[in-house]
Amino acid sequence: MIGLSKETKEKWEKFVELINTALDVFLPCEKEEPQELYKAMRYAVFSGGKRLRPTLTLATAEILGLDPKIVLPQACAIEMIHTFTLVHDDLPDIDNDDFRRGRPTVHKVFGNDIAILAGDALFACAFKTALRGSLSDEKKIKILKEITNALCYKGVIEGQVADIRSTRKKPTLEDMLFIHTHKTGKLIEASVMVGVLASDVDGEVQGYFRKFGKNIGLAFQIKDDLLDAYGEEEKVGKKLRKDFNKASAVVILGKEKAEEMMFKLVEEAKENLRKAVGDRGKFLEEMADFIINRES
Ligand code: IPE
Ligand code: IPE
Ligand code: MG
Ligand code: MG
Ligand code: MG
Repeated sequence: MIGLSKETKEKWEKFVELINTALDVFLPCEKEEPQELYKAMRYAVFSGGKRLRPTLTLATAEILGLDPKIVLPQACAIEMIHTFTLVHDDLPDIDNDDFRRGRPTVHKVFGNDIAILAGDALFACAFKTALRGSLSDEKKIKILKEITNALCYKGVIEGQVADIRSTRKKPTLEDMLFIHTHKTGKLIEASVMVGVLASDVDGEVQGYFRKFGKNIGLAFQIKDDLLDAYGEEEKVGKKLRKDFNKASAVVILGKEKAEEMMFKLVEEAKENLRKAVGDRGKFLEEMADFIINRES
């Protein structure tokens, strides 16, 4: 993985292994009926995603002194939600994409109807999963509040609505910032915060982590726009050059300014992380760098 130290790469791989094993347990078995639904859910989830969001959750919890396994159900819930948003995002009535992670999208393989329902089912399964595990009920409720706030009422879904409507008029910088911080930023911020909320750190430290999450979330979507404009389709695994009529950071700011904004966001994110945990945040700092250096 690009630019990562050996130590960070190995840790990320270990987290991904944990996440994949747990997702396999938490998702319905595809031999059960209705098989086409469960197959579609598993096709969507097990298709080589980076597992960035659940990794952020596990790593944050670990940095704050917890055994990362304690937040594994909640981390998997976030990956299920992320996957559901991708399945619906790719549908013909939204972005109409045929490829994702280098494979045909869920609706291309299973049909639009099953893709919609597989997204719905992943969403429901996420909440069932977030309630599992040994965290206290009080912490689970706080975590569920964080996740639901990230999704609806000034969350991911509002960001998606603004995104699809952004072709109607020339989008401004303000429009782009709203879209990016909501459609993508909110879930990344929540991924960090779920790890924080599992711990007992005080409000000040929580604030630093929230700023870290917000900044890397926005930087992540600016990078997605840069990849759309300049990336290689074989590496990114999805159709590119699709966002020129949308609120893309590249269209609104131009390449240099978009990159500048992204670098600044990540620098500020790392400063906040250092305020929270000093030099114990190395893994998350490298994840932040990965977000803006990645090729997929
Ligand atoms: C893609 O997210 C969708 C956006 C929010 C831009 P990722 O790039 O994290 O997708 P996977 O999970 O690794 O495929
Ligand atoms: C996706 O944004 C955001 C969500 C799925 C919530 P994009 O539409 O830019 O993501 P890609 O480029 O299809 O992965
Ligand atoms: Mg979209
Ligand atoms: Mg899309
Ligand atoms: Mg995109």
